[in-house]
Amino acid sequence: MCGIVGYLGYKAIAPLLVESLRTLEYRGYDSSGIAVYNNGTQNINIYKATGKLQNLVEVLPADLLMEPPIKNLQVGIGHIRWATHGAPTVENAHPHHGHHGEVVLVHNGIIENFAELKQVLQGKGYVFNSQTDTETVAHLLEDILKSHQHDFLPAVAELRRQLHGAYALTMMHKQAPGKLYVARQQAPLVIGVGNQGEYWVASDVVALVSYTNQIIYLEDGQYAELSEEGGVKLFGPDNTPVEVKIHTIQTGPLTIDKKGYKHFMLKEIYEQPDVVRNALLERITSDTSPVFIANDTPVSEKESVSIASLSQDVDRVIIIGCGTSYNAGMVAKYLIEELVRIPVEVEAAGEYRYRNPVLNDRCLVIAISQSGETADTLEALRLAIRSGAKTIALTNRPDSTMAREVGGVINVRAGVEVSVCATKSFVAQIVALYLLGIMMCEHRGVAEKLAELPELKKALLTLPVLMEAMLSNVDPLQKLARKYGHYTSMLFIARGVCFPAALEGALKLKEISYIHAEGYSGAELKHGPIALLDESMPVVSLLSDGAVFDKMLSNCQEAKARSAQMISVTNKAIPHGYENTFDDIISYPACHEWVAPLLGSIPLQLLSYYTAEFLGKDVDQPRNLAKSVTVE
Ligand code: G6P
Repeated sequence: MCGIVGYLGYKAIAPLLVESLRTLEYRGYDSSGIAVYNNGTQNINIYKATGKLQNLVEVLPADLLMEPPIKNLQVGIGHIRWATHGAPTVENAHPHHGHHGEVVLVHNGIIENFAELKQVLQGKGYVFNSQTDTETVAHLLEDILKSHQHDFLPAVAELRRQLHGAYALTMMHKQAPGKLYVARQQAPLVIGVGNQGEYWVASDVVALVSYTNQIIYLEDGQYAELSEEGGVKLFGPDNTPVEVKIHTIQTGPLTIDKKGYKHFMLKEIYEQPDVVRNALLERITSDTSPVFIANDTPVSEKESVSIASLSQDVDRVIIIGCGTSYNAGMVAKYLIEELVRIPVEVEAAGEYRYRNPVLNDRCLVIAISQSGETADTLEALRLAIRSGAKTIALTNRPDSTMAREVGGVINVRAGVEVSVCATKSFVAQIVALYLLGIMMCEHRGVAEKLAELPELKKALLTLPVLMEAMLSNVDPLQKLARKYGHYTSMLFIARGVCFPAALEGALKLKEISYIHAEGYSGAELKHGPIALLDESMPVVSLLSDGAVFDKMLSNCQEAKARSAQMISVTNKAIPHGYENTFDDIISYPACHEWVAPLLGSIPLQLLSYYTAEFLGKDVDQPRNLAKSVTVE
């Protein structure tokens, strides 16, 4: 959460910082700011605004947005905020400066001992202008600098000793105008290397790919000084110099473009047929075993790691994730247990990391994360690595921290997902997990299950065409959104492998329309939620052909008997006798039982999208949320 950028070079700095921040807007968007060294006055000027990035552009002086008139070195930092400590106000927006204006910095993370540090600093006369934990870092650094003769690197070492918590910091020192300083502790930070002493800093590589493909990934505990003449001076957690490793990444400049769609979310929903094609490409045919291609990841150390070998000789699978990634793991649990006949546990990473889970080298831990940076999933994964378990990161970002630290990487290949409300990454994660399940089934040779695989493979391969057919007629969902958009609460129910799709459907609706929604197993309805039902609470039921279809029909009857408005999303004709059970029916194509959650999710995504649009909500940047949650 929060996005950080920095630049040192000869380009017009303000437009560059703003454009880099624009690529990070998905990380937070409640305020933003930049700080730029002014070569004339020799001060560091700070500009900030609340709300969208455009508000910042409007407060920037015109001359700052133009090319620098002479060849002056430009140094600056920028930040886009997702508020943790203190409301989204201009005072709380970053960059923050120290008491004497000597230090200016931006921060991503949470300083856990900021209250104690602040008290001590206030006792020394430091005046605080914000409620943030970050301002404490700026004052503290200035205080430390005083006793280090303004020698910045030893001061950073001391700062690190005193700070507890998570941080990615990018810092400027008024007395070192041609330098940028960075430090990383449990929050991502990368350095981009340009030509002849030009450097970029960012909390995510996506902010840099338009400028350079030469990347230095900072590791936890590392800090560095960047300058034109001195290059990158990198130090490890023990304050000794570390050799700088520059990675050449393959990603080209990103075009973050709505391509004519009103919102990124809608564009990404419509991309799903191609996302599935891409996820299957060169990995499976109807009569071959799935393969995960070794060079599918730009992280070279992982190229030799075979997913097949990691998934052998295991007695248990543990899937960890948060939000939508957790729901994708839930879908996979049904398939892997059925096909591979080993137990699969799906765990919310934020809980798992603080348990004392039973793990050993016969466990396969799969961390699912679109971003590969979610703090809770990353820490749960590190716990698994320390416990000796085999580990795989299933991520849309094979250059992410998780991918770099883990045993094996599966690239879900969804392409850049901009909408905070995840759609295509969910589908791509399930497809990749299904391939893994099929691969494990074939390796384990569960005879009666092997016979089922050709049909399943065919079903996966036909998914894109079925999805395209579904996406060609969205009128019924638009009508449904208008009819139910004014309700304040909804239930989503399903059973079997579609149950997690109901959880995901409810999550989508609450995320972007702010309508209260919960997902339940149809079976659980009568153990509590049914008490809520009356004509004011619609129930969306995902009814898929298969073993639990009739059970679900009974559950829907039970809900209708309590006067709930019933909406069915189904791939099978509703049988005689149930005509009056449903107020609205959305049909989707008949399909193999296992792929029903993939197809059934599409109408639920569209229902959420059109409801939020009908209600006039900010679909792509819903309040209070962030795409990548890099704090606990
Ligand atoms: C945030 C996002 C969700 C996402 C979750 C996990 O809450 O808003 O859309 O599912 O983080 O993110 P990850 O990148 O780990 O999949």
